[in-house]
Amino acid sequence: LGSKLGKIIVVTSGKGGVGKTTSSAAIGAEMALYGKKTVIIDFDIGLRNLDLVMGCERRVIFDFINVINGDASLNQALIRDRRISNLYILAASQTKDKNALKQSSVEKVLAQLKKEFDYIVCDSPAGIEHGAFMSLYFADEAIIVTNPEISSVRDSDRVIGILNSKSQRAENNQEIKKHLLISRYDPQRVRKGDMLSINDIVDILAIPLIGVVPESSIVLKSSNQGVPITLDKSNSAVKTSYKKIVARMLGITEQKEKWTDKLMKSMGLVRDFVS
Ligand SMILES: Nc1ncnc2c1ncn2[C@@H]1O[C@H](COP(=O)(O)OP(=O)(O)OP(=O)(O)O)[C@@H](O)[C@H]1O
Ligand SMILES: [Mg+2]
Repeated sequence: LGSKLGKIIVVTSGKGGVGKTTSSAAIGAEMALYGKKTVIIDFDIGLRNLDLVMGCERRVIFDFINVINGDASLNQALIRDRRISNLYILAASQTKDKNALKQSSVEKVLAQLKKEFDYIVCDSPAGIEHGAFMSLYFADEAIIVTNPEISSVRDSDRVIGILNSKSQRAENNQEIKKHLLISRYDPQRVRKGDMLSINDIVDILAIPLIGVVPESSIVLKSSNQGVPITLDKSNSAVKTSYKKIVARMLGITEQKEKWTDKLMKSMGLVRDFVS
C-alpha cells in the first residue's frame, strides 16, 4: 500500500450537461501530465460517460460498483490510461440501482485511493440526488462547473449550499475549498444579453473563479474521439483554458509550467499523444 495523502476533488454543478465530465477528463489528464498520480472516478451510476470521453470504454471489465460490492479489487477495476502514465480511471457501472453507492463503502474505496494517488477527481452526476451527494460528501475541494445561464447558476448555488452544510468537511467544521469554473462561455451571446457575464456569475455565486472555458465545437469532436481536451494535439482556446485552470489549482506560475512540462516529457512521463 502507498503512503500518499491524496486530495479528493469533486467536479459538480447541480444542473446536467454543463461540462462536468469534459472538465473532469481534461483536468485529470493535465494533472497527470504534471506527474501527479491521478484517478478520475465516474459517479454517474447507470449512465457511464467518462470512459467514452477518455477513450477506454472497450477496456472496462470491472467498475466502481464491482469494487464497492467486493466483486473486484481496486487494482482489477482501475484502468490505466494508454497515453499518460500516472492517469487512471474508475468507470461507473450500468446498474439501475442508484443507491448502490453505499456511503461506508464509498468511504473505504476513497480511503484506499488516497494512499495511492495524489489526486482523486470525482465526476459527479447531474442533480443533487444520492450519487451526486456521494461524489461530493468526502471531497477536500470542489470545482463548481457553471454555464452562463440563470438555471445553471441557480443550481450551482444550491450545490455550494450543500458543500457548505452537508459535506463531511462541513460537518467537521472544516472549510471546503471551492473553485468556480465557468464553461461554455460565448462572449458574443453575452454581448447580446442572451447570457450572463463573468462578473454577474461571480457576483451571484461569490466563490473564487478558477477559469473560463469558451464554447467550442472542438469539445464534442475530441470527446467523440475519446481524447480529453488537454491531450488534444491542436492548441485550442478550450485546451489553453483547462491548462491554465490546472496550473492555478496546482499553484504553478506560467514560467514554472513550461519547465515542468519539459521535465515531465524528458522523464518519459508523457507517452504518446493521440489526437
Ligand atoms: N466548452 C464547451 N463547448 C462546447 N460544448 C461543450 C463544452 N463543454 C461541454 N460541452 C458539450 O456539452 C455536452 C455535455 O458535456 P458533459 O458531458 O461534459 O457535461 P456533464 O455536466 O458531465 O453532463 P451530465 O450532467 O449529463 O453528466 C457534451 O455534448 C459536450 O461535448
Ligand atoms: Mg457527466
